[in-house]
Amino acid sequence: AINISKLRENTGFITFDPGFKNTGIVKSSISFIDGEKGILLYRGYPVEQIIKKCSFIETSYLLLNGELPNTEQLNFFSEKIKEFNSINHKIYQILDKFPVFYHPMGILSSLTCILTAFTDYINIKEEDMFLHLLAKLPVLAALTYRKKVGLPPSYADKDLYYTSNLLKMFFSIPKKCYQINPIITDALDKLLILHADHEQNCSTTTVRLLGSAYVGLFSSISSGISALWGRLHGGANQAVIEMLENIIKSGGNINKWVDKAKDKKDPFRLMGFGHRIYKNFDPRAKIVKKIAEKIICELGIHDPILELAKKLEKIAIQDPYFIEKKLYPNIDFYSGIIYQAIGIPKDMFTVMFALGRLPGWMAHWKEMRLNQEPIGRPRQIYIGYKKRNI
Ligand code: ACO
Repeated sequence: AINISKLRENTGFITFDPGFKNTGIVKSSISFIDGEKGILLYRGYPVEQIIKKCSFIETSYLLLNGELPNTEQLNFFSEKIKEFNSINHKIYQILDKFPVFYHPMGILSSLTCILTAFTDYINIKEEDMFLHLLAKLPVLAALTYRKKVGLPPSYADKDLYYTSNLLKMFFSIPKKCYQINPIITDALDKLLILHADHEQNCSTTTVRLLGSAYVGLFSSISSGISALWGRLHGGANQAVIEMLENIIKSGGNINKWVDKAKDKKDPFRLMGFGHRIYKNFDPRAKIVKKIAEKIICELGIHDPILELAKKLEKIAIQDPYFIEKKLYPNIDFYSGIIYQAIGIPKDMFTVMFALGRLPGWMAHWKEMRLNQEPIGRPRQIYIGYKKRNI
């Protein structure tokens, strides 16, 4: 076998792979993707089966611990999450200082990092840290939303299941009884599951990279949230709806927009299309489309955006450019339609994605520590000046 370290010492040989298009940087047993066949497994289980048989909390347990929980384990896990869902009152004051126009992803990332200042790292067991964050991130997300829309802070309801509680924390209005809608809870729970892990995407690798330098869990997750914010990554869910609205506003000529995406002189891309790994349908996108259709129908909404999205998909997947480049709808293409049906504003879409991705990020952080991975430190090819004098 080639000894890469020796080869490098002797020849200066390094691999050059911008965007890590073909570089494996970890051995992981959390999720598996076959991009050609459109397969996604969490700990070996097809995501299609998990969606049917498991809740988001069971999926989180699976990702973090490697196996699905039995009843006792699930109860213990759920109760702990309920126990940890309060946050320090100073966080409310800090939240108040953010300008209202600041993007919720920036606020969520900052508050997650700030949690470190109010966490007793010495006395909390590492296993409990994961549960603290699973409990607290929805509270921070709900507070961020409520500040944005001018509602007073809400508190977690310990009697409710995770996703029902999340919805209640978002939408409850003072002095009014909040009615749980099982259709909405079910759609959101499934959406959280579909976002829960996706091997070495940009944000997960960011979390692992920070963890490899021994950055604490909350700060590592805060960086993952920032990475997810980008429009080429999780931020695409907001960008998709904005694009679809623009198509409608400009007269609904889909072909014009598809041509624009193909024009190499135009930086515009069809948002919600294409993926680094999937060269076939993203299996999550297929399920998200079905959930979107179901929720729109069950809630009796007429949504021209869903109709437009379906037409756009049909045109794009038959276009030779998209066929040649193997560009298919990804998870972000239809997810915004569901969020809108639930009543979540566009700039909160990526926050919802972050809530779903949290167990995956934490499972990777944990795995990286258990594997005792070395600090992540890529190389570069220097193309600047040779040594020169001032
Ligand atoms: N619209 C038009 N052309 C596209 C698109 C698109 N959405 N995506 C890729 N292409 C083209 C590129 O221009 C490139 O063409 P070229 O070979 O002529 O240069 C080719 O397809 C390959 O694209 P790359 O950018 O090299 O592929 P990469 O794997 O680096 O990027 C990415 C993947 C970022 C997802 C890209 O497809 C994209 O920008 N999509 C739109 C944004 C989006 O939906 N992001 C969400 C991804 S899923 C997630 O992160 C949760």
